[in-house]
Amino acid sequence: MTVLSQIRSIFYGSIYLTAGFASLPFAALGLILKGRPFDIFNKSKLSEANFTFLWSIMGRPSAAVEKLMNKTISQAYGVVLDLGPGTGFTVHHFDKSKVTKVFGIEPNKAFHPALQAAVDAAGLTDIYTIVGTGVEDSETLKKFGIEEGSIDTIVACMVLCSIPEPKATIAQLYKILAPGGLFLVLEHVKAKGGLGVIAQDLANVVWPFLMAGCDLCRPTEAYLYGAGEWEVKDLKHPEGTGGYEFITSTQGRLIKAK
Ligand SMILES: C[S@@+](CC[C@H](N)C(=O)[O-])C[C@H]1O[C@@H](n2cnc3c(N)ncnc32)[C@H](O)[C@@H]1O
Repeated sequence: MTVLSQIRSIFYGSIYLTAGFASLPFAALGLILKGRPFDIFNKSKLSEANFTFLWSIMGRPSAAVEKLMNKTISQAYGVVLDLGPGTGFTVHHFDKSKVTKVFGIEPNKAFHPALQAAVDAAGLTDIYTIVGTGVEDSETLKKFGIEEGSIDTIVACMVLCSIPEPKATIAQLYKILAPGGLFLVLEHVKAKGGLGVIAQDLANVVWPFLMAGCDLCRPTEAYLYGAGEWEVKDLKHPEGTGGYEFITSTQGRLIKAK
C-alpha cells in the first residue's frame, strides 16, 4: 500500500473523528430533552449518547461495505448469535432459508426500535429475538438458552472493537459455539504498521470516548485465533486493502474444531 493511500485513509478517518467531536453538543442536547441533564457529566452515558447520535447519521454502510457484509452474513445457518446489530443495517443479509433462529445481542436500547423495524422489513420477525444486554452477560444469555455449545453461527460485524475484556469475552463466545460451528467476522482491527498505526495510536486517545468504547487498536484476529482449536482459520484483509489503513478490516470465517 502506498504512502499516498495511507494518507487518504487517515483523511477519511479524520472525518469520523471530526464528526465525533461535532456531534457532542447534539448528544448533550438530546440528553437534556430526554430529561436526563445530569448524564452529560457521566462520561460513559455521554459517550453512549454521542455514538448513538453519530451512528444513526453516519452508520449506514457504503456499497463496498454492504458487499463485504453480504459475503459474510449470508453464510450464517441454524441458530445464530448476532453480536451488536445496532440499528439493524446488517440484518437483511441473513439468508432466511438457512437460519432457524437469530438472537440479536444489543445492549444499547436506544437502537432497539430501529433494529426491530429492520428485522420486520427483512421478514425475520418470527425468528429474530432482540436481547438487550452485552454479550459478556452470560447469566442473561442463559435465560434465552444461549449456553455452551448451543449456537451454530456467531456473526461479529464491527462489534468486537467495543466489547469489554475482549480476550476473555471471545474465549467465552468460543465455548458458546457448537463443535463444527461457524464464526463469521467483519471487524476493524489494529493496523500492521505504517502511518495507519501511528494515526490509530494518536486517535485512540479520544476515539473510545467519542464512539462508546470502540478501540481502534485491538488485535482481534489474535484473540479469535487464540480462543481455542479451529478447523478453519480464514481471516483476511478485504481485497484492495493491505492492513495498513487507519480503519483497516479483517473479514472471513472460522470453523470450530469438532
Ligand atoms: C459499530 S456498531 C455496529 C452495528 C452493526 N453491527 C453494524 O455493523 O451496522 C457496534 C455495536 O456493538 C454494540 N455493542 C457494544 N458493546 C457490546 C457488547 N458488550 N455486546 C454486544 N454488543 C455490543 C453497540 O451497541 C453497537 O450497536
